[in-house]
Amino acid sequence: MTDASDRTGNVGNAAALDDAVRLLRSGGLVVFPTETVYGLGADALNPDAVAKVYELKQRPANNPLIVHVADTASARSLVASWPSAAELLAERFWPGPLTMVLDRAAHVPHAVSAGGPTIAVRCPDHPLTLELLRRIGRPLVGPSANASGTVSPTTAEHVRAWLGDRVPVLDGGPCARGIESTVVRLGAGPAAVLRPGVITPREIGAVVAVDESEQDEAGPGEGPVPSPGMLRRHYSPRTPVRLFEPSQRRAVLDRLEGGASVVVLSPGMAVEHERLVRMPADPEGYARELYAALHRADGIKAEAILIELPQGESQVWNAIRDRLRRAASG
Ligand code: TXA
Ligand code: MG
Repeated sequence: MTDASDRTGNVGNAAALDDAVRLLRSGGLVVFPTETVYGLGADALNPDAVAKVYELKQRPANNPLIVHVADTASARSLVASWPSAAELLAERFWPGPLTMVLDRAAHVPHAVSAGGPTIAVRCPDHPLTLELLRRIGRPLVGPSANASGTVSPTTAEHVRAWLGDRVPVLDGGPCARGIESTVVRLGAGPAAVLRPGVITPREIGAVVAVDESEQDEAGPGEGPVPSPGMLRRHYSPRTPVRLFEPSQRRAVLDRLEGGASVVVLSPGMAVEHERLVRMPADPEGYARELYAALHRADGIKAEAILIELPQGESQVWNAIRDRLRRAASG
């Protein structure tokens, strides 16, 4: 078990993994860590187990699940065909935060793909979960381990705040990347990014042809997108979220210091206040801390969470702004 304990040193004792394997094999649910967010795991080939995931998350039946695999051989067993683009992307980015949507194999339970013709597969980059997948020897569905529409969990504590002890949680420490995987559709023609993430269209484009029209910031969030999860409000705390521009800092600070019931998230305000959360200035750091900051801000039960919209010009910032706009559209 030394492998699986590497990341935090205090996780993944063999007994917890054994229990998880037993539970998953008998159709139960287990929450597992990944490098992006925690996932609500169930045996992807057991329709009853998959149904429990939809039920617990209150997830609409038309929103398909991502299937987590230990390796490309397992991914290939779930798809009707494995194009060379999939092979190249898997070689370059797996294990890692890239989900590929491919034509599904006939034996995959319908609930996994929400009755659709495709299936989303990804090999997560977390030693504990890779060990779990290898031991169980089956693919696992793993939507983010949160109630549908709410903020994804990036620590075991976030999951327990929602589920209590209803589902065991394999604690793999805080997630290293912090926002959900990039989802890319591989079909006829160039790859299309359905959900932006820390693996950017530019990085994908260095390996395979990418549909440029999906690369602008508005792309994945608006218009007809063939990924049901992207069509609705998402990632929203209970507390209303409002976005503001850096030019509005003074006014926001005045509200905060004037005693307004608000929590402020900003990378750039150089003052100390108990309800001001200083966000990292680099996009990777910001992504890693965003959901924890939202969970914490929500816990304060203020009347609003005011978030300064980061201005950085990179595709990782685009992915972050995508999440922020969704959080604010609740
Ligand atoms: O980083 C992640 O991807 C995390 C961790 C746990 O792996 N999982 C995750 O799953 O974010 P979930 O269920 O919260 O989001 C899955 C997204 C949804 O937007 C869903 O609509 C889309 O992937 N998706 C799943 N299967 C699809 C398919 N066959 N075609 C198009 N979109 C699909
Ligand atoms: Mg989710």
